[in-house]
Amino acid sequence: MNDQLIIFDTTLRDGEQSPGASMTRDEKLRIARQLERMKVNVIEAGFAAASNGDFEAVKAVAEAIRESTVCSLARANENDIRRAGEAIRPAASGRIHTFIATSPIHMEKKLRMTPDQVVEQAVRAIGWAKEYTDDIEFSAEDAGRSEIDFLCRIFEAVIKAGATTINVPDTVGYNVPEQFAETIRTLIDRVPGADKVVWSVHCHNDLGLAVANSLAAVRAGARQVECTVNGLGERAGNASLEEIVMAVRTRKDIFQCDTRVDTTQIVPASKLVSGITGFPVQPNKAIVGANAFAHESGIHQDGVLKHRETYEIMRAEDVGWTTNKLVMGKHSGRNAFRSRLQELGVDITSEEQLNHAFARFKELADKKHEIFDEDLQALMSDESSEPKEHFRLLSSSFHSETGETPCARVTLAVGGSEAKAESCGSGPVDAAFKAIEVVANSGTELLLYSVNAITTGTDAQGEVTVRLSKDGRVVNGQGADTDIIVASAKAYLNALNKIQAGSEKMNPQV
Ligand code: KIV
Ligand code: ZN
Repeated sequence: MNDQLIIFDTTLRDGEQSPGASMTRDEKLRIARQLERMKVNVIEAGFAAASNGDFEAVKAVAEAIRESTVCSLARANENDIRRAGEAIRPAASGRIHTFIATSPIHMEKKLRMTPDQVVEQAVRAIGWAKEYTDDIEFSAEDAGRSEIDFLCRIFEAVIKAGATTINVPDTVGYNVPEQFAETIRTLIDRVPGADKVVWSVHCHNDLGLAVANSLAAVRAGARQVECTVNGLGERAGNASLEEIVMAVRTRKDIFQCDTRVDTTQIVPASKLVSGITGFPVQPNKAIVGANAFAHESGIHQDGVLKHRETYEIMRAEDVGWTTNKLVMGKHSGRNAFRSRLQELGVDITSEEQLNHAFARFKELADKKHEIFDEDLQALMSDESSEPKEHFRLLSSSFHSETGETPCARVTLAVGGSEAKAESCGSGPVDAAFKAIEVVANSGTELLLYSVNAITTGTDAQGEVTVRLSKDGRVVNGQGADTDIIVASAKAYLNALNKIQAGSEKMNPQV
């Protein structure tokens, strides 16, 4: 039995389909570089036909990534496949992932196609994809509710046409482990040519079973799992990458396979994705939750101190948890700053960017004596944030006193000019947002506001996420500062800049 389990990460595609998780090209590139560092096998970078922005993002990832295969999703039509093929052209190793729905309800109600037409279209799709690459994945959307005989028929046809990976998605998260494993076993057993392709699964988490279903499929012979960092994804999300990887690594005796993932990169990847999307990780989330390795009870602590394996099945450091590391202070020099960023995997694209970031680091070091890795990461995430800012905070002042209405005054750079405004509100953050709106008049609705401390201590930077919606489009903005009102204003402006710059994109499955 093949003992390599291929990890296909779809954080940048299915993860991005979560409302509010939409990412800019630059953000996708940063996540893709971290996924490459983590050594995932395949990075699904997006759906190239969704918009010009998506096309450019997939292409940029294909240009930047050398160690992982870069993939674009495409519906089974000629235009989508040609867009995907062009976008992955620069990749060292590129894949086209094409799909069509196969369940009776999807074929009849959504596609309005007969089963014969669906098979024919799938085979034609493989033909177009072959003009660009030999690495072709075919997915039967809603396979989890499709008839097994029809799945056998369509998979046989696409394998004959040249598909090299066959993916079985539980699109609506309807399956349970024993049943899903049986489906995979039957397909591998019955489909002619099954031994020439990699069998893959893609599970959604509507019943909280995405990881369990994926692992059951691995036991039944699947050798690729599609998953996302932090389990990000449509509705209740996709199978979580960190749980899949650590389950097979920790229980090789059960799964009889392993991945090539560098597990020490898991926690940095989780933090990066959470920071960029603004989706926090619940504290008790397996592997990457803040409490995942915390032993509160006296009996557990005593046991762990005597012999850690009494209560620990994995080591925190093996998945990338480190204690807050004091890296630098106000006397650290430019070279030390640059080399610490390199160790953290942050790419500096120009001397100009380094100078600017270093100046901001010095400002932060003046306010905060101890600078941790997390502070540097937040600083750099601000530094490279796209789009080019239409709105920027130049200065601000806030007044808040017991028994008085809080007020805020802001000065903003707007395009090429400067604008000042003031407003009062029910709290200083509310006042700041209202003052910004006096200038921006954005017509957006505030969906979410959340604050997190980046490190410990009362001098920690606050990291704020703001989610705004306008005309059905949802964006997240982030900002960090030792002053949480300033962090809030930055996050609000970051979200407004995204609304301002954003182009519409389509969801491949709608
Ligand atoms: O959930 C799903 O069916 C998908 C396919 C496009 C693979 O995301
Ligand atoms: Zn999906």
